[in-house]
Amino acid sequence: MPSYFLFFLGLTLIAGLGFVTPIGGGDMPVVISLLNSLSGIAAAFAGLLLLNNVLIVAGSLVGASGLILTVIMAKAMNRTIGNILFVGYASATQSSGKVEQGEVKPISAEDAYLILENASSVLIVPGYGMAVAQAQHVVREMGELLEENGTEVKYGIHPVAGRMPGHMNVLLAEANVSYDLLAEPDDVNPAMDSVDVAIVIGANDVVNPSATEEEGSPIYGMPIIEVHNAKTVFVLKRSMSSGFAGVQNPLFFRENTRMLFGDAKESIGLVVSEFKD
Ligand code: TAP
Repeated sequence: MPSYFLFFLGLTLIAGLGFVTPIGGGDMPVVISLLNSLSGIAAAFAGLLLLNNVLIVAGSLVGASGLILTVIMAKAMNRTIGNILFVGYASATQSSGKVEQGEVKPISAEDAYLILENASSVLIVPGYGMAVAQAQHVVREMGELLEENGTEVKYGIHPVAGRMPGHMNVLLAEANVSYDLLAEPDDVNPAMDSVDVAIVIGANDVVNPSATEEEGSPIYGMPIIEVHNAKTVFVLKRSMSSGFAGVQNPLFFRENTRMLFGDAKESIGLVVSEFKD
C-alpha cells in the first residue's frame, strides 16, 4: 500500500511539473486559480468517498468559485483556458521576446512636475510596484493636487495588475480614491491619444506593448492599457528589471517615455512637494 502511494505521489509530482513548467509567467495567475479550483474538486470527491458532507460542500464551493474566477481571468486576458494551458508547448521553440535596444530617457521629479503642471489630462496606471511601495495614499494626494490645478485625472485599472484580483481597486479604495475615477482598459484605450501624461506607477506587464505587437512573446494576446499611445508617458520604477512575466518592456525605450527611477512612494512624494511649494 505505501509503495502504491509513493508511486502515485512521484507520478503526480512529475505530471504537475511537466504541466506547469511550459506555461508563461503572465498566464500563471489563471493556472494558479485553476489548480486551486481542482484542489476543491478533489476535496469534494474525497468527501464522497469518506461520506463526509462538510468535505463535499466545502470542496464544491472552492471548486466552483475557483472555476468562475479562472474563466473571468482568462476572459480578461482575452484567451481561452485551453490556449493558456497548452500554448506553452506550441511556442516552446519560438523566441520569448527579443531584447529591445534603444535609449532610455530618465527624468527628475522636478521636471516631471513641470510637465504635469501644464497637463490637461492625466491617466494614472498603478501596478504591483504601487503595492510594494505602499504609495496609494501619496498617489491619491497627487491626483487631488492635479485636479485642483484643473487637470482631468483618471485611474486606468487592469484586471490582473498587482498580484491578486482587485488588488489595485482595494488599495485605491483604502486611500479614498473615488470609485468614479477608476476606468477599465476598454474605457481608456480608445481615447489614449488625447491623454497628455500617462503615469505608470510600478506597473510593467500590464502596459507592455509586446502583448499586442510581438507575436511569440509569452504575454502575446493579453489585453494591456495602451499607455504608449499617450502624448507623454512617465514610468515610475526602481530599475530596468522586468515584471512578473519576466519579459523586456519596449515601452521604456519609446520616444514619448520618460523613466522616473526610484521607489514609487518617494518619487510621487517629491512631485507632491513640488506642487505644494
Ligand atoms: P509587474 O509586471 O509585476 O511589474 C511590477 C513592477 O513594479 C516591476 O517591474 C518593478 O520594477 C516595480 N516595482 C517594484 N517595487 C517597486 C517600488 N517600490 N517602487 C516602484 N516600482 C516598483 O506588475 P503589473 O504590471 O501590475 O502586472 C502584474 C503581473 O502579475 C502580470 O504579469 C500578472 O499576470 C501577474 N499576476 C497577477 C495576479 C493578479 S490576479 N492580479 C496574480 C499573480 C500574478 P523595479 O524592480 O525596477 O522597481
